[in-house]
Amino acid sequence: MNKIERQFFDDREAMFDSLADRLAARLGEGLAANGRAGLVVPGGSTPGPLFQRLSKKELDWSKVTIVPSDERWVSPDDPASNEKLLRETLLIDKAADARLIGLWNDTPTPAAGETVTARALAEMPDPMDVVLLGMGADGHTASLFPGADNLLQAVAGSGGKPCCAIQAPGAAQPRITLTGPVLLKSKEVILLITGDEKRRVLGQALQEGPFEDMPVRAVLHQHVTPVTIYWAH
Ligand code: 6PG
Repeated sequence: MNKIERQFFDDREAMFDSLADRLAARLGEGLAANGRAGLVVPGGSTPGPLFQRLSKKELDWSKVTIVPSDERWVSPDDPASNEKLLRETLLIDKAADARLIGLWNDTPTPAAGETVTARALAEMPDPMDVVLLGMGADGHTASLFPGADNLLQAVAGSGGKPCCAIQAPGAAQPRITLTGPVLLKSKEVILLITGDEKRRVLGQALQEGPFEDMPVRAVLHQHVTPVTIYWAH
């Protein structure tokens, strides 16, 4: 299994401070080395305080590309939109000039929209500087959900697709997700989780087992990209 760095905290505020500093440092290194930098970020309820801190960091944000790890197939003015979340919580303050490559477009379904999204993703820095991921209590990450209709294609990136339409059982909206190879095409992957339940789920995911049961295993049990886990109570 990949050697995984653990950054565990008793206090969430301290964790968010530490992670914001680390992301700013990594983006600064990317800008210094390549003149550009890239960051993949999750949606969901956890990263808000992190985005707030990161948006205040002094960087040449106009040369930073932000990409959501996944998206619900709703317009960017829909409350469920990850793009909306990012425009309201990360692309503000000093980070207002960052470039966001959104995954949604106005084709009727994510399957129909994949080609358009893939064209937009061709602009992603390769590799990204950091891929930041969340995890659900069912062991999903990005929109790689257990039991999802296209899970195998999405994890494998079948046909070299950078993104894949996916429908998770019980998910309110159809989704599009970055594929496994794209999520790992980064100098590092950081998994951001909080709470005792997710710590328990993480312990299960760190055990060997089918990634179909816990798709976050596709990130944890690989030897391509270094993985760090940030966790706090
Ligand atoms: C999304 C995210 C998803 C999220 C997990 C954890 O679009 O919802 O990309 O993968 O990171 O579901 O969500 P919470 O942070 O709300 O627990």
